[in-house]
Amino acid sequence: MDRLAKKVCLITGGGGAIGRAIAKAFKDEGAVVIISDINEQLLSASADTLGCESIVQDVTSESQWECIVGDIEKKYGRIDVLVNNAGILGSTDNVNPETTQVEDFRRLQLVNVESVMLGCRTVIPAMKRAKGGSIINISSIAAAIATPFEVSYGLSKAAVRHLSWSVGAHCAPFGIRCNSIMPGQIETGDGGMMDSIFKGAARRGEQADADTARTTFTALIPLGMLGTPYDIAMGAVYLASDESRYVSSISLQISGGWSVL
Ligand SMILES: NC(=O)c1ccc[n+]([C@@H]2O[C@H](COP(=O)([O-])OP(=O)(O)OC[C@H]3O[C@@H](n4cnc5c(N)ncnc54)[C@H](O)[C@@H]3O)[C@@H](O)[C@H]2O)c1
Repeated sequence: MDRLAKKVCLITGGGGAIGRAIAKAFKDEGAVVIISDINEQLLSASADTLGCESIVQDVTSESQWECIVGDIEKKYGRIDVLVNNAGILGSTDNVNPETTQVEDFRRLQLVNVESVMLGCRTVIPAMKRAKGGSIINISSIAAAIATPFEVSYGLSKAAVRHLSWSVGAHCAPFGIRCNSIMPGQIETGDGGMMDSIFKGAARRGEQADADTARTTFTALIPLGMLGTPYDIAMGAVYLASDESRYVSSISLQISGGWSVL
């Protein structure tokens, strides 16, 4: 109930499935939760459901990061936790190493990687002033496997995982921890990331149809099922809480037993 009591937490991509689940779990554990998202409609739907503060944010904007973190520090006196969760899948059409489009490649690295770097860079001084903090970056199991069906996405998530190691190493002397979470395949409904991947594989003719793609992907998961946003949220609660005070620079795989190096 109070594993995150009074911790001031900013969660990006709070209008999305996993961001919303993390925000709910943090709130249930007593945190002061602020969610942000570029999509105002999704953001206000989440904020209304959860009863938490919300801020419209494009995570690729350096100046918005400065303003938002500055405002949170001014209002609450500190920021304890940042979850860099906002992310995109990118195109599901031209996705293999022969067809990848430069525009899509660059957009993915901008939204999924550069924004995480900006978020980390902006909160570190604030967390130093607070004498500690926890940064959680949402990577993916795709970071550690070949993703010929999502080349740019896999690369972006590998970069997030690597960045988290560097941030963790840099920040350790200041009592600031940084870890990444590597979700496996998470069920987020129609139009969600896995749904788009299944439909994309069918459209490209790699799978007979979206249902077959789902069956094929699910067969790769040792526990035999897709995960839920709640599964990711529980990992985030642990990494945000003082229970993980001795844990930094890890990549927490929440992937149904699909274990990678
Ligand atoms: N769903 C999965 O199976 C899965 C698996 C591994 C990793 N992930 C990662 O988990 C995170 C959340 O995924 P999800 O499934 O909830 O996706 P989602 O699409 O439901 O949520 C992502 C949110 O990020 C927001 N966003 C996109 N671009 C933004 C920007 N420039 N600025 C601010 N917000 C922006 C979107 O509006 C959306 O609300 C992502 O980083 C994703 O890559 C998801």
